[in-house]
Amino acid sequence: MNIRRLAARGFHAILRNNIAAAKILGVTFGKNCKFIGNPLELFGSEPWAIHIGDHVELTNGVQIITHDGALWVARSLDKTLEKADIIQKVTIGNNVFVGTNTTILGGVTIGDNVIIGAGSVVNKDIPSGFVAVGVPAKPIKTVEAYLADKRDSVLDTKGMSSRQKQQIWSKVF
Ligand SMILES: CC(C)(COP(=O)(O)OP(=O)(O)OC[C@H]1O[C@@H](n2cnc3c(N)ncnc32)[C@H](O)[C@@H]1OP(=O)(O)O)[C@@H](O)C(=O)NCCC(=O)NCCS
Repeated sequence: MNIRRLAARGFHAILRNNIAAAKILGVTFGKNCKFIGNPLELFGSEPWAIHIGDHVELTNGVQIITHDGALWVARSLDKTLEKADIIQKVTIGNNVFVGTNTTILGGVTIGDNVIIGAGSVVNKDIPSGFVAVGVPAKPIKTVEAYLADKRDSVLDTKGMSSRQKQQIWSKVF
């Protein structure tokens, strides 16, 4: 394990400062970002190929893959490819939410103001201002439409404890 990965592991384990650990690995982050999980797993083996804008949330189980491991097979079939690698960058814009257990593959650019649904596999660019879901992830609606639809369903409980939320939300369902 190289010195950067060792330092990142220390930051993650001891300080629980995920963003600092990811930055040590080489991930480029903007301001006010948040992610759940171990940066060593989430950002894979080429964290320096990942560029993330401002106000981006990556939830639990998200993985960003920046290399084509499938060359494993080609390397065995053709000895001239023994040292072959394909590494592709991943760019995520500003104000993006990535749902649970989503995989983002190399070469992808996700625009600004984007929502990626839980369990998606993002293998193509997602344009700004869209909600995209599925395997492979495809835009299904604009974020504007999503907001218009959700506006009447929200309650102002963000930041409250789980117990406080229970008292309020249990009146709803
Ligand atoms: C993407 C998301 C925001 C969309 O919410 P929504 O606007 O209420 O979506 P809708 O219920 O209107 O669904 C629209 C269509 O997309 C489909 N869809 C919604 N989310 C999907 C998903 N994650 N994967 C695949 N299809 C999905 C629905 O089945 C529906 O399809 P249909 O029109 O064929 O019936 C939401 O489904 C989601 O995945 N949220 C992320 C949850 C999460 O990861 N939370 C982490 C907490 S830390």
